[in-house]
Amino acid sequence: DGAKLYKRCAACHLPTGEGVPGAFPPLKNRLSSFYTSEEGRAYLVQVLSHGLAGAITVNGVTYRGFMPAQGKALKNDGIAAVLNYIQSDLHEEKPDHSPFTIEEVQAIKTAEPKVSAQELSKRRQKLVAT
Ligand code: HEM
Repeated sequence: DGAKLYKRCAACHLPTGEGVPGAFPPLKNRLSSFYTSEEGRAYLVQVLSHGLAGAITVNGVTYRGFMPAQGKALKNDGIAAVLNYIQSDLHEEKPDHSPFTIEEVQAIKTAEPKVSAQELSKRRQKLVAT
């Protein structure tokens, strides 16, 4: 289930999702704008599948880190479960979007089977982060 799978993320992003400033970006209470747009949802699935590399700025703090791809360990059901866990258990606000389904994760991956971790950080700049 999502809580169990999140343990692999907690190694870097911490069990609370608060992250480590300058090293690992926080996930808690700030990904809603990604969850509520089509491009943002695709971004989340692709970051989990392929990782993320390149500078990103979160709450005024720049991260020049590298997130390893999780796509070997997490199949479609695992990606859906962990993303739903973050939004429903780590975020304090009530989710205002539909949960991820295995079918949605599959559709996003089929639409774009390969995308680089570098390309994803460029794409992120066009998405509005909270
Ligand atoms: C970035 C989720 C595992 C290190 C991110 C982002 C998400 C995320 C959604 C993008 C945040 C944003 O765009 O604002 C997850 C989930 C994980 C996981 C759900 C488990 C399935 C890990 C692990 C590490 C890690 C194990 C460390 C080895 C990082 C780093 C970044 C990042 C360094 C920023 C990369 C950059 O600066 O370009 N993570 N992560 N993550 N994650 Fe993870």
